[in-house]
Amino acid sequence: MSALNREQVLSVRHWTDTLFSFTTTRDAGFRFQSGQFAMMGLEVEGRPLLRAYSMASAHYEDNLEFFSIKVPDGPLTSRLQRIREGDTVLVGRKATGTLIMDNLLPGSRLLLLSTGTGLAPFVSLIKDPDVYERYENIVLVHGCRQVSELAYGEDVVARLKADEVLGEMLEGKLTYYPTVTREPFRNRGRITDLISSARLFDDIGQAPLSIETDRVMLCGSPAMLEDLRVMFEAEDFLEGSHSEPGHFVVEKAFVER
Ligand code: A2P
Repeated sequence: MSALNREQVLSVRHWTDTLFSFTTTRDAGFRFQSGQFAMMGLEVEGRPLLRAYSMASAHYEDNLEFFSIKVPDGPLTSRLQRIREGDTVLVGRKATGTLIMDNLLPGSRLLLLSTGTGLAPFVSLIKDPDVYERYENIVLVHGCRQVSELAYGEDVVARLKADEVLGEMLEGKLTYYPTVTREPFRNRGRITDLISSARLFDDIGQAPLSIETDRVMLCGSPAMLEDLRVMFEAEDFLEGSHSEPGHFVVEKAFVER
């Protein structure tokens, strides 16, 4: 049996010159947990050309959603960025990944810290009612160079807040904190600096970082992950995995190569 499902593209939205999102059909047998990823891509010259992509859709949704970068000479995304409604994409049958709630010890505040397309797994997580049952507070931080790169995340959060069913669940629990580093915006600076200076917590009017309450998921560029890992480990946070839950979990954003 093939390890890949053929899914139909249902919609495509271009957010900037370098970012787009799209939805596809979902094979009834494809199961995943919020925060996981699968191999996804296109058939090129008769062969699958795949990359790891986090599902941005919720585990209970009928369709799949992905958020991608566009790299002009990227083997996959130079092609993927041209997909249209009705086209076929390939999706691996097996989902995996470390950014799942079971890899974290119990806590009361969940910090979801992302840069760039590292936002994608958190889009899935913030749609999951289980997250709101397990945590009193969820803080979603998305760091980008430019304001325009925040558009997808802003749209997702606005739609969730307006949703009849989910809106109520999010109310007073989900704090969305977008931040920009290379142009003026209401929140400025790198996530590392916002945490080490505690400005993030001042800005959102919440208690400072604490190993007693905080559980953390990290998804972004390798440099951002490394710096944050060092910072959290200096506070005695332990990295969680499938074999042993911890205070934080890490996954690199699967940017194009
Ligand atoms: P900066 O503009 O200061 O480099 P990129 O597009 O390079 O992946 O960056 C996405 C966002 O992540 C940018 O806001 C960038 O800030 C920030 N960033 C890059 N490196 C780090 C790091 N080591 N720690 C925290 N944030 C980072």
